[in-house]
Amino acid sequence: MSWPVIVVTGANSGVGLGICQRLLVQLISKSPTDAQPHYNFHVQKTTTNDASFDGLTLILACRSRQRGEAARDKLYQFADEQVCHLEILPGYDGHAETFRKHLTIVVHTVDLSHIQTVFRFADEIIKTYPYVSHLICNAGVASFVGINWRLAIKQYATSWVEAVTSPTYYTQEVGQLSQDRLGWVWQCNVFGHYVLFRALKSHLAKYQMSTGARVIWIPVYYDPTDWQLIKSAHSYESSKFQMDLIAHQLDQASLEDSDKLPTRHLIVLPCALLGTFSTMCMFFSFYLARFLGSPYHLITGFKAAISAVHLCLVPLACLPTVSSTEFDDSDPTATVEVGFRYVSECDRWGKERVGTMKLMRSKEHNKQCDDLMDHCERLFTAFCEAEGRSLPS
Ligand SMILES: NC(=O)c1ccc[n+]([C@@H]2O[C@H](COP(=O)([O-])OP(=O)(O)OC[C@H]3O[C@@H](n4cnc5c(N)ncnc54)[C@H](OP(=O)(O)O)[C@@H]3O)[C@@H](O)[C@H]2O)c1
Repeated sequence: MSWPVIVVTGANSGVGLGICQRLLVQLISKSPTDAQPHYNFHVQKTTTNDASFDGLTLILACRSRQRGEAARDKLYQFADEQVCHLEILPGYDGHAETFRKHLTIVVHTVDLSHIQTVFRFADEIIKTYPYVSHLICNAGVASFVGINWRLAIKQYATSWVEAVTSPTYYTQEVGQLSQDRLGWVWQCNVFGHYVLFRALKSHLAKYQMSTGARVIWIPVYYDPTDWQLIKSAHSYESSKFQMDLIAHQLDQASLEDSDKLPTRHLIVLPCALLGTFSTMCMFFSFYLARFLGSPYHLITGFKAAISAVHLCLVPLACLPTVSSTEFDDSDPTATVEVGFRYVSECDRWGKERVGTMKLMRSKEHNKQCDDLMDHCERLFTAFCEAEGRSLPS
């Protein structure tokens, strides 16, 4: 078997389900269009057929088996519809049926807010599959509890598009803890995924096909003294910023250790603007914002999945690398460009594309990141010891 084994966390709804559907549409075709290196940020524009696979194992990592199985059934039905659609086209080459025959979609349960289940999940994956080619850290939570109407009216009055793109008026619960007694939002978004990556790291390294293994991190104010984000009133945004820091650091470390094909860590912003906002009124506002030129109102999970799926499939040689950067010693807060975040965008008619945002880092950010990684690694070690597990390399 040489085809990809892809783990998607939170695969049963929203962007996660969109990523799974988009992967199917792409891989069912012999020349996946999302794999083409045709954007400005690619370092070379080769058109190798590296992303054509005769099969796929898609692992839906969900906290509810029932919701996971409903998504799995929907995805199989979706794949069958794609095959039916392709096999009647003139010049059809049989690839879709071969792919469908070797398509396995499975549900494994995991609750990122309970580290014991993350270890159990990783053990099941290691025991059952020869390697993992992609880990897509998509699951995410926010503890939104209400709307600050004064702020909402002010933001809508000053910038209507900004108000429906980056709302600052949602209030979030402070101090919510997980059953492991860690910051709940932090554990679900950051630490649970960190543990998952650490537990699967050596299994990712076993995937030595030409695309190399990849970890996709879906990540603005961050207080380093409150790294579990218990006191923060912006725990969602802060947790996403931490993923940004961690992913960049892991990518750099992986590229420096060049004995093997590196496991790339890539940062993706899906920018779907869906889910909780899906009332008729919100939909209308989003379509209007898109028509007025906002590139971040993709509206469906399938369109929002473009950046994650592109980064899963594009040839390794086309991806920009990151290099260690010289910082200004006299000003620890001065930022320099160190790489990219990849963003799902669309034009006013809804045609999706992959865009980039500069990833800026300062010496202070690097220090925060070192401290954060240190905290994560120490906690990871403590959980391994508590579970009587040996520490993975
Ligand atoms: N939508 C957007 O506009 C947007 C923009 C930027 C970034 N993002 C990011 O994209 C990701 C997906 O967003 P979405 O809009 O698709 O969210 P969503 O519809 O709320 O889906 C979140 C998924 O995560 C799962 N999940 C939540 N807590 C979990 C836990 N403790 N353990 C395992 N799985 C858990 C949920 O499972 P259940 O079904 O069991 O709850 C669900 O499948 C998130 O990381 C989000 O921060 C989204």
